[in-house]
Amino acid sequence: MEMESESPLARWLARSSPYVALLAAWIAMSGSLYFSEVAGFIPCTLCWYQRILMYPLALIIAVGILLPDSRLPYFVLPLSILGQGVSTYHYLLQKTQLFGGHTVCQAGVPCTTMWINWFGFVTIPFLALVAFSIITIAALVAYYGDEPAEPEEDEPYRRPWLPVTGIVVLVVGAFLVLAQTQGQEATATPPEPTALPVIQMPPDAPTPAAMAVASSDGAQLYSQACQACHGPDGQGVAGLGPALVSSELVQDGDGEHFVTFVRQGGHVEEEEGATDPAAGPPMPPCGGHPELTDQDLLAIRAFLKAE
Ligand code: HEC
Repeated sequence: MEMESESPLARWLARSSPYVALLAAWIAMSGSLYFSEVAGFIPCTLCWYQRILMYPLALIIAVGILLPDSRLPYFVLPLSILGQGVSTYHYLLQKTQLFGGHTVCQAGVPCTTMWINWFGFVTIPFLALVAFSIITIAALVAYYGDEPAEPEEDEPYRRPWLPVTGIVVLVVGAFLVLAQTQGQEATATPPEPTALPVIQMPPDAPTPAAMAVASSDGAQLYSQACQACHGPDGQGVAGLGPALVSSELVQDGDGEHFVTFVRQGGHVEEEEGATDPAAGPPMPPCGGHPELTDQDLLAIRAFLKAE
């Protein structure tokens, strides 16, 4: 802060860093609300802790810029660094066995559920970690930068309302447009039942007899990946997942449609087509466990069929 740097670049960085942090916080907040309110993903306990740390940042940074207050980094860093910690823990929980079977989510959606898994590594806590890290770095740049944040006594200070409200309006507006198009797509999709893509069964696809043997595996996989939402006996859990033992996907056919649906998640196509948006949450692709193979899913199905 006291550093007297002559570099115009350093000064420019210090001056713009709070806006970078503001942008990151508003994208993170709008994005998380989009995931839960528009896409219907259920936030787990760890997701809520990250929200508790991220949402105040969106407002604190805006107020800190408008005042302006050179102590802004002191308010921002405790939240953003803690947030990095929670996101890192959550991401490791999803992607590694470092914490074994331990999970802080006892009820509701397990924290290991991956609602998204873009490119095989970008999950929601990963996105949160990126946002918290951008905010931390921006706060550090502002802290070490030489920009005097307090207005000079003699010159009139003009609060930067335009860039601050501009960022907020742009980000919120973009997500509202996204939500709108998402809603239109949901209602505009033709209701005729689409042909499910044929999945390639592995050459050594289990015979019914082999599947019966594998069904003990199925029980274990089911308890790890599906039970939280579909109940211990596949009878369903109110508000989380429907009963599976009575599902046509489980009881009828050879399991191809079952595997195809579970892989892609979302909503089961009803006979009449369009799903009722009020019907409940979507299912995360593969139950949030992209590591499950087709064979694993067939074993789970065999277990459910035997229930
Ligand atoms: C985070 C919660 C969650 C998890 C975990 C989960 N599901 Fe689901 N599942 C749902 C929801 C919600 C639906 C209802 C989707 C809809 O609206 O059609 C569903 C629907 C289904 C259906 C269709 C049922 C029907 O209506 O015929 C099958 C089959 C299914 N899940 C299998 C699985 C399997 C197998 C696993 C484990 C690998 C799993 N689910 C894990 C939430 C979950």
